[in-house]
Amino acid sequence: MNKERILVTSALPYANGPIHLGHLSGAYLPADIYVRYHRLKGNDIIYICGSDEHGVPITITADKEGVSPKVIIDRFHEMNKEAFEKFGMSFDIYSRTSLPLHHETAQKFFKSFYEQGLLTEKKTWQFYDPKAKKFLPDRYVEGTCPKCGYEEARGDECENCGAIYEPTELINPKSKITGETPELKETSHWYFSLGKFQKRLENYINEMAEKYGWKENVLQYCRSWFKEGLRDRAVTRDLDWGVKVPLKNAEGKVLYVWFEAVLGYISATQKLSLEKGEPELWRKYWQDEKTKYIAFIGKDNIVFHTIIFPAMLMAWNDANDDKFILPQNVPANEFLNFEGKKFSKSRGWGIDVIDFLEKFPPDPLRYTLGSNLPETKDTDFYLKEFQAKNNNELADILGNFVNRTFTFVQKHFDGKVPLMGTPAKIDKEMLQTISEFPGKVGRLIDSYKIRDAVNEMMNLARAGNKYFNDSAPWVTIKENKELAGTTLNICLQTIYTLAEIFEPVIPFTSKKIFKMLNANTVAWDEAGKPQLAENHPLDKGEILFTKIDDKVIDKMFEELGHTETTNEIDYEEFSKMELRTAKVISAEKIKKSEKLLRLRLDLGNEKRQVVAGVAKTYSPEDLIGKQIVIVANLKPAKLFGFESKGMILAAETKDGKFEVLELSENVPLGTRVK
Ligand code: 2FM
Ligand code: ZN
Repeated sequence: MNKERILVTSALPYANGPIHLGHLSGAYLPADIYVRYHRLKGNDIIYICGSDEHGVPITITADKEGVSPKVIIDRFHEMNKEAFEKFGMSFDIYSRTSLPLHHETAQKFFKSFYEQGLLTEKKTWQFYDPKAKKFLPDRYVEGTCPKCGYEEARGDECENCGAIYEPTELINPKSKITGETPELKETSHWYFSLGKFQKRLENYINEMAEKYGWKENVLQYCRSWFKEGLRDRAVTRDLDWGVKVPLKNAEGKVLYVWFEAVLGYISATQKLSLEKGEPELWRKYWQDEKTKYIAFIGKDNIVFHTIIFPAMLMAWNDANDDKFILPQNVPANEFLNFEGKKFSKSRGWGIDVIDFLEKFPPDPLRYTLGSNLPETKDTDFYLKEFQAKNNNELADILGNFVNRTFTFVQKHFDGKVPLMGTPAKIDKEMLQTISEFPGKVGRLIDSYKIRDAVNEMMNLARAGNKYFNDSAPWVTIKENKELAGTTLNICLQTIYTLAEIFEPVIPFTSKKIFKMLNANTVAWDEAGKPQLAENHPLDKGEILFTKIDDKVIDKMFEELGHTETTNEIDYEEFSKMELRTAKVISAEKIKKSEKLLRLRLDLGNEKRQVVAGVAKTYSPEDLIGKQIVIVANLKPAKLFGFESKGMILAAETKDGKFEVLELSENVPLGTRVK
């Protein structure tokens, strides 16, 4: 068999926050399964990833925290690297785009384009936030749509009516960073002549799609871009964080993050080569026509990988002797939702990978995500389904099959592989079944039907259990030990095949099974043939999966979506509530109550008494003088004999403590809060 050489990349995640389960099932787990499979096939494959460390959002996070962008990227680079490791991602390198090597590589590409006349400088007007001292990308400007009047329209397009306009047309623009009215300031940027590449890109995509079966979702996306017509794109930004524009008159300008991030795949491979002490090794993967390059991404990244990046590589190749290969396939996935809704950091909806792996081992998560990848449409992650996959499939089917086989062999065959007698029909059929699996699963993975591949793997464990049941060795052992031995021999061979074909999905478990078998992996294509010799001594058995209790899942639900709102109300309902500012003039304990304080409040033109349940957190003197917010039109009530007219607003923490909502600046007392 001819060995293939394969280059695999997964989208470089922004080092601006922790990765969540949705990321994993989009661009990472499917690629890892693909790579692990090809390694077992014996192919020459490298797997490249790393952090994308530039772009405006990183600078905004840094400003919010009052630290430098470096602090942010260092934090999330390390955090995500660790999360990926714990999840079992087998990158050959997890690099970063802040490396000087990356900057140099990106600048080389830019210079080559510049020298070829593919970059044109154009003057434009752009929003500038004078307070933040920053040019504002369109999504950091909000205002009223000039067409439909929608008040939360973006700087250049309206989400509500789809209108596209010049930033100058937006009514009442506001900076999303400071809330200030931005100024329009003249600036100049370099535009890449993407339009020039349209014809060649169309040919490239059509050819690849036909030869290698590109996914329909990806093709449709590309075609709609072509239909619109590719326009020149600004590839520089006014920012001081990023790859500097390598031209003389370009102070304060960096490359647009997408225009260099894709080159991060190349610089990461160069870094890997340096680490291996073979500085030119990367060329074998990027510049040899026999290498196939597969780029795994989520659907939001399609245009950059199927149009912009290939155009950049074409442009380089036009003027340089060392020519790059283009992606052979870009199997982009759709999105994974969480319990029926989009992951949302701000609403606290979803789970970060690090947190999830604090609670559970990685393999059940890999299996659950793998068996439900959003390959053709968005899918959902449900905690209950995760529990069911772990308990009813991994534990009850795979774990049980391995466990019952090992227990039986320890008990009746002294922990050694029993002799294979003359196989009967049922045995031959099982041997046949085993032999078909590596090929079947492999073909699915090779055609990017990775979800189907994962589900197919479990079918071998199902077949194993059925074979065990139908052969009933617990009966035959009493009458004909040789017959039982044949059954158990075949069960062990099945377990061997399972350990191998499951390796790409549940590598940690696969390793355990191989240890139990006292054996190692073989080449994938051999894994369907009996590999364990008669009398081969086995290691001790161990339980592979622990069942997850309902209570554990219930608790996760409780912790989840703390900030998630479920009962939506409309404005009219909200406006019935009269929230007003007030100042605490006096406060005292209420005898016989541990919880209550009696407060006297000043509402400007009125003073009143409110009884508040915050005595466990605040002593009376803590509250005096504070400016707070109260629900002023709550029906009066009597508590411990004291009248209470209204309710103060406070946040209740998990341990039952209260944090009273306080105003930091002086606002006239009695002001309505909306
Ligand atoms: O969407 C994202 O998270 C981007 N940081 C992906 C970049 S992929 C490639 F260009 F590096
Ligand atoms: Zn509009």
